[in-house]
Amino acid sequence: MRIDILTVVPKLLKSPLSDSIVQRAQDNEVVEIHVHDIRKWSTDKHKKVDDEPFGGIPGMVMTIQPILDAINELRSERSYDEIIYLTPDGETLKQGRVNQLSLANNLLMVCGHYKGIDQRLRDHVITMELSIGDYVLSGGELAAAVLTDAIVRLLPGAIGDEQSALTDSFQDQLLAPPVYTRPANYNGWEVPEILRSGDHAAIQNWMEQQAIERTKSKRPDLFEKDS
Ligand code: ADE
Repeated sequence: MRIDILTVVPKLLKSPLSDSIVQRAQDNEVVEIHVHDIRKWSTDKHKKVDDEPFGGIPGMVMTIQPILDAINELRSERSYDEIIYLTPDGETLKQGRVNQLSLANNLLMVCGHYKGIDQRLRDHVITMELSIGDYVLSGGELAAAVLTDAIVRLLPGAIGDEQSALTDSFQDQLLAPPVYTRPANYNGWEVPEILRSGDHAAIQNWMEQQAIERTKSKRPDLFEKDS
């Protein structure tokens, strides 16, 4: 998979994408991630990428020219499965959507800043709009990092233990069951006996029950929704 990200603050993406699983996936050629500074495409002599909104509203809006030129250059080199705009008024990101995007070959993400991008880009070139939750970030960069991380960890070869991603919370509309490690007794806090029994069928059954109980108590809404 290849992921291209357009931003006016590339530094914001550097750290989250250059450590841990996402970095390892890049080292192992599971994914290629390219972060591009939108200013590079600005034809303005001061490399301006924003302007005042029509209608006398306060704030600044990202202009069409640099973003459209960037997108056109990138898509002349390869075709993108989706051109995703990260925005608080997009579809709220859920695991089902992440799973679907993890099957793509090429993804292009556009990070908004200021009051966002000119609506005409959304109308004519953006193919998907995603929000990572009902709160407003300073820009789409951290949302793009979240989306990238969620996708990359699902790619074959990204996580050592292939089973691990499949047993994540939300993969089957359930939260993950509790986990424990050594020591079995820490100052009197005991690990449930069943997990030390060696009876794999019983352990599997216990974990499923725990996942159901946990979902019922923490996120009963998950039983009502289908994505
Ligand atoms: N940009 C600003 N806030 C955002 C959010 N909650 N999700 C995605 N992109 C955003």
